[in-house]
Amino acid sequence: MTPTSGHTRTVSRGIAGLIVAAWLATAGCSDDAPAAQPQGQDCVIGLPADAQMFPPVIHTGFNGRDDFLGPISLNFVPDSWKVADPSIATVEQHEKCNPVFRGIGALVHPKKAGQTTITAVKNGMEFTLELYVADYTADEIDLGKKRYYEPENPSATRRACASCHQQPGGADHSPLAIGFYDDAIVRAVATTGMSPKCVSQVSGSECVCGGQDPGCYEIPEEQRVLNVPGGHSWEFTATELDAIVPYLRSLTPKGL
Ligand code: HEC
Repeated sequence: MTPTSGHTRTVSRGIAGLIVAAWLATAGCSDDAPAAQPQGQDCVIGLPADAQMFPPVIHTGFNGRDDFLGPISLNFVPDSWKVADPSIATVEQHEKCNPVFRGIGALVHPKKAGQTTITAVKNGMEFTLELYVADYTADEIDLGKKRYYEPENPSATRRACASCHQQPGGADHSPLAIGFYDDAIVRAVATTGMSPKCVSQVSGSECVCGGQDPGCYEIPEEQRVLNVPGGHSWEFTATELDAIVPYLRSLTPKGL
């Protein structure tokens, strides 16, 4: 079956996937003042023809207690960064370039709930992402954590997420994996087992993109459902369901 959604178009996903993978190898940042421009053979010089920043949208949260971090990957080294509303977030560039990609990563630090844009500038060109910082509560994080590690009334459909995800080699659902997707999409991944790239928003059969272009692309059928034997359709109480995605967003991005 091919996707029928009118929103669907085909774009290359190669770079985005590679950038995320490469991020894992170079994560590591400092709390020091603005990062000096990294230099050396690991850093690409200038602006490559396929220059990009990933993801184009970041969803994260704020509650005044927990750390919510939004990882960004680039295959170049920006000259500078701009946050349209600096009261909502700051951005911190890593110190070192990735030896494979020769670009650099950065981390968004939310400061309060709201919406703004973050722009990397290189040679006068601008690469902008939309940042959405949701207002989460500390109680939500605690409840989400409980469902994740020690669910009440455990059963085959109320398994602890940790029983798989915290095993060695467990699948990543940290902000590195889910930052691009809004809460509704990540909830649907947990309750239906649809791939986050392909959550059905219209009907059970129609596959549409995850909401925010330019993440839109054709998804082969075998990639539309998570590869989890027995499925990935977990049950939640209503409050747990509200809490589980905020909890995942409070996790340290994989690789940091
Ligand atoms: C039986 C093991 C198992 C359990 C239990 C489980 N997961 Fe998963 N989950 C997986 C596997 C394996 C993948 C990756 C599958 C793939 O990539 O095709 C995955 C993927 C995901 C993803 C998508 C990550 C991405 O970006 O691709 C999310 C989100 C997620 N799980 C959340 C949860 C939550 C929340 C719970 C608990 C309510 C949970 N999972 C319980 C095995 C499990």
